[in-house]
Amino acid sequence: MKNIAVIDSGSGGLTVANELFGRLPDERIIYVGDHGNCPYGNKSIKDIKASVYRIIRFLGRFELKLLIVACNTATALMLDELKEKLDIPVIGVIEPGAQMAAETTQNRRIGVIATQRTADSHMYQQTIRKKLDGAEVFEQACPKLVSYLENNDTRPGEITSALEEYLAPLRRANVDTLVMGCTHYPLAEQQILKVWGGPVNLVDPARATIDQAVQTLKTNGDLSLAPEGSHLFFTTGDAGEFSQKVKKWTPVDAPVVLTVPDEDPQINRPPGPSTAS
Ligand code: DGL
Repeated sequence: MKNIAVIDSGSGGLTVANELFGRLPDERIIYVGDHGNCPYGNKSIKDIKASVYRIIRFLGRFELKLLIVACNTATALMLDELKEKLDIPVIGVIEPGAQMAAETTQNRRIGVIATQRTADSHMYQQTIRKKLDGAEVFEQACPKLVSYLENNDTRPGEITSALEEYLAPLRRANVDTLVMGCTHYPLAEQQILKVWGGPVNLVDPARATIDQAVQTLKTNGDLSLAPEGSHLFFTTGDAGEFSQKVKKWTPVDAPVVLTVPDEDPQINRPPGPSTAS
């Protein structure tokens, strides 16, 4: 049985997995949320890469046909190196989101809301400009949002006031298209639209990412032709809490949720993944 792995710093990648559940119901998804290290977006590049490689080593125990990096931050920092190191196809979320934005805007003014690390990488700006001559891209870091969204106890008012702060400069910049450049943000789509308060093309890169995934599986003759079995959801955090989030944010109502086991500190590991080619 060959599986599709979807990884994120936490629950945000579920917004990408949801597209997969809808489009490719026969595929079996192995989802890993790194809740124990979430949020990534305010951490050092070294720490983020170490966390992602730990997940990649864990995934080495599964037979995989595709890895979807359903995290903009990890995509911005290390998609190319993951593609180089792994012997399976690897898809990130930024290029598909950039393509959608370039195709959607009418006035060539595009806003991107993202984590601090993604905004600092300017990956959206660079990628959109390559696709659309004269595009003006305004990247806005939203450092509070991921923690607010992961924390079930957060009062909606806190998300709204953070959004007021983050969206105001983009409204002033007269963008007609707004990219949710963090896979957690579609969880707050209604709040984003409400705070924006006017017409805007809201881009969720998930759909275009899964278009790429479908194309890759087709090209490789890897599409499943019959149901492959239950999806598995792993977390480096609390399995009970994650189970609640999977039930809340996906159509899977009895998810199999497990904890990623600790690595044996005695083993001297190479810096890269064990599945490296
Ligand atoms: N969902 C991740 C992303 O798309 C959030 C990163 C974080 O944990 O800050 O960037």
